[in-house]
Amino acid sequence: MSVPKVALVTGAASGIGRASAIALAAAGFTVAVNYRSKKHDALALLEELDGDGHQAFYADVASATDAEKLVEDVLGAYQRLDVLVNAAGQFTPQDVKSADYEQWQSDWQQSLQLNLMAPLNLAFQVAKPMMKQGAGKIINITSRGAFRGEPTAPAYGAAKSGLNSATQSLALALGSHGICVYAIAPGWTETPAASPRIRNQGWDDVAAQSPLGRIGRPSEIGNLVAFLAGSETEYLTGAIIDANGASYLRN
Ligand SMILES: NC(=O)c1ccc[n+]([C@@H]2O[C@H](COP(=O)([O-])OP(=O)(O)OC[C@H]3O[C@@H](n4cnc5c(N)ncnc54)[C@H](OP(=O)(O)O)[C@@H]3O)[C@@H](O)[C@H]2O)c1
Repeated sequence: MSVPKVALVTGAASGIGRASAIALAAAGFTVAVNYRSKKHDALALLEELDGDGHQAFYADVASATDAEKLVEDVLGAYQRLDVLVNAAGQFTPQDVKSADYEQWQSDWQQSLQLNLMAPLNLAFQVAKPMMKQGAGKIINITSRGAFRGEPTAPAYGAAKSGLNSATQSLALALGSHGICVYAIAPGWTETPAASPRIRNQGWDDVAAQSPLGRIGRPSEIGNLVAFLAGSETEYLTGAIIDANGASYLRN
């Protein structure tokens, strides 16, 4: 009997990370569910996942030390790591017109640390064990904001744009070791983080940004994650996949 593959999903207690964990478990992966503040939700998710062996792991992935320990803990628990899904992230509102200088700098540092450095630190940590295995997949959740600009969150937009670029660079650097690297760029997706902002902007106005006339569902991103994590996508690497209902192509 073959040993199930192991997927580490960051930010898995909520939204897109949670949906990714559900889809990966349904596809037969054993899931390492990373959480930061939502331990209760992470433990509840374990009960919901198909299959056995899933475990929850605390880490504040913005901390380089926690990121290193997270990968060590997952490898210690399973002795393998096949897929990393970098879903943890946060939209930090910023206003260049009104912020004071100190706030401006601190928002940039925080946003770049969480939305760019955290996924790259984790990619660094998983690269060597994956190289030893001769295979692995790294899936970065970026954003359509990387292409469209984020006037109310420039650091977030820049971080996601940097992560798209790093996805391409790492795909080139790691491809000869059997490691594929992808970015998924969602648009508005109905998650606990995004829903209040969608309500503020007006549900219908946001839906109208896509020719499909609706907002994305977390499960649609989760299913795409599971597809990329599977064995049918091994010639696809360095790809940035726009899962945003064509809303990044402005009307
Ligand atoms: N929803 C959208 O419309 C949308 C669009 C484009 C891109 N995205 C991207 O999709 C990803 C998921 O977003 P979401 O909408 O699903 O948000 P969400 O529902 O808030 O989920 C994000 C998860 O990340 C976790 N997280 C945040 N900072 C963390 C840290 N330092 N260490 C560990 N976990 C941390 C959060 O945990 P805590 O509760 O503990 O903070 C939360 O569980 C993000 O990268 C986001 O930028 C979302």
